[in-house]
Amino acid sequence: MHSRTRRTPEQLRSYRYLGPDDLRSFGHRSRQKQSGFNTEEFAGKPVIGILNTWNDLISCHAHFKQRVEDIKRGVWQAGGFPVEIPVMGLSETFMKPTSMYYRNFLAMEAEEVLRTYPIDAAVLMSGCDKTTPALLMGAQSANVPAIVMPGGPMNRTSWRGEQLASGSDVWKFWAERGAGRMSCDAWCQLEDHIAASPGHCMTMGTASTMTALAEVLGMALPGSSSMPATHSGHARMASSTGRQAVDLAWYNIRPSEIMTEAAFRNAITVLMAIGGSTNAIVHLMAMAGRTGTPLTLAQFDQISARTPVLANLRPTGKYVMADFFEAGGLQALLAQIPDLLDLTALNVAGTSLGDAIKDAEIFDTDVIRTREAPVCATGSLAVLRGNLCPAGAVIKPAAAEANLLKHRGPAIVFRDYPDLKARIDDPSLGLTPGHVIVLQNAGPLGAPGIPEWGMLPIPKYLLQQGVRDMVRISDARMSGTSYGACVLHVSPESFVGGPLAFVRDGDLICLDVAQRTLTLEISDAEMDQRKADWKAPDAKFSRGYGKLYFDQTTQAHEGCDFRFLHADGSVDPEPGIY
Ligand code: FES
Repeated sequence: MHSRTRRTPEQLRSYRYLGPDDLRSFGHRSRQKQSGFNTEEFAGKPVIGILNTWNDLISCHAHFKQRVEDIKRGVWQAGGFPVEIPVMGLSETFMKPTSMYYRNFLAMEAEEVLRTYPIDAAVLMSGCDKTTPALLMGAQSANVPAIVMPGGPMNRTSWRGEQLASGSDVWKFWAERGAGRMSCDAWCQLEDHIAASPGHCMTMGTASTMTALAEVLGMALPGSSSMPATHSGHARMASSTGRQAVDLAWYNIRPSEIMTEAAFRNAITVLMAIGGSTNAIVHLMAMAGRTGTPLTLAQFDQISARTPVLANLRPTGKYVMADFFEAGGLQALLAQIPDLLDLTALNVAGTSLGDAIKDAEIFDTDVIRTREAPVCATGSLAVLRGNLCPAGAVIKPAAAEANLLKHRGPAIVFRDYPDLKARIDDPSLGLTPGHVIVLQNAGPLGAPGIPEWGMLPIPKYLLQQGVRDMVRISDARMSGTSYGACVLHVSPESFVGGPLAFVRDGDLICLDVAQRTLTLEISDAEMDQRKADWKAPDAKFSRGYGKLYFDQTTQAHEGCDFRFLHADGSVDPEPGIY
């Protein structure tokens, strides 16, 4: 399968811990025996580190206690030695201010765990939103052979005869409740149904987007990312992933050989074709920043302009991930766009992308559209420029009301999220559907953590009039399950003195998605004066992780990674084993 030579046991990284006849290796071997393993169970075998992001508060990974056993089964069968290593689980639901605040924390933890322990290859157990980019970023920087086990989406679920979509329907029904069209009892019943099995959100939200991109980047087994979490095939896929990790260890196939420039271009193309989450832009930026070939926002826009949206999945379309899987899954979609992909890109299975999709078929052409009948011809995501976002901003036109994609209206400004919560429903503000709602100080440093607040709420009194979308602008992100004419990731953010900080009530703002512009209609002289009058807020942290985050986090258009974790062309030496 691989053109390179299989390593000998003595060439494995773990051999230096477990093989030699010296004092330290004696200690390592004796402690393996303390754990109950005989010499022949571990000696001369690749050690496969299974980075498990399970905990009791990350319900999307509720099945990971069983899946880690499935992975171990595959590792043992292939002649490896599995070791489970718990790492931080980034629970999208429970972590405050946002799981994004801790993405780089998990990336650092994964990198250092892989570096310090005797690990020859890693299985990265990911699923819930930020776990996938975080683990991949860590594996990239450690550059130890690694493979992703995608956690899989939740099952289909329905309520009162209507198919539900986790995330997307929470926002939809909350709006109905705000409009007075849903009772308190019905809202409580919905709680019992909206997330009805283990697995990550079953829309094409951030979790499904990032696991699909992990597969396209070549870091997960072909066909693995669309598999529902509770399908028996998911356990079999986990076992196969464990087996493949042993192969990666023997042949020392590293992430840097798989996550190449071509692989990142493929990932951007697929992000557009699946109608994926805006969050993926930030994560791909961060991942590419760990390589020597960083991405630019312009690349996303260029690729968006030539790529059709083929996945008819919520929040852009109609269906959920279980439908996508049954319709042929990601491979069937990729097989529709071979001319837009670099089919020579390699994957962890030891094959090329072209090999992986050559026999793929679509079984339901309403769920996975053909090139002749796309969901949208192009333009899944768009990158905006203008005096309000000099370093860029992002919008998902496919998930917005079309009449808002060209819009000019007066701003109503909220200085931060508490201010928004306190005043948005105040009728005395007199908001109309033509207003532009602006939220400041919700970016990477201002919030902090660039939370998913970007689908700003529409005032109740407008909801009651039937309004369901308005132009909304912030330096926040938005959940991949969200929708609407929401301009996101405005960069630089307002907290560091980006122009969003200078917007005032009543200023006219012009959004023109076709022209890719976002303009604050004030003169340059007025902008300069407001900038001169602006007072920088105080730093939020003086110690701990917050201070590290605050000192090191880059802006949204750079991926929000820590500066000192970017690739700088140098290779860190592995720590000595003494
Ligand atoms: Fe985990 Fe949505 S809450 S993926």
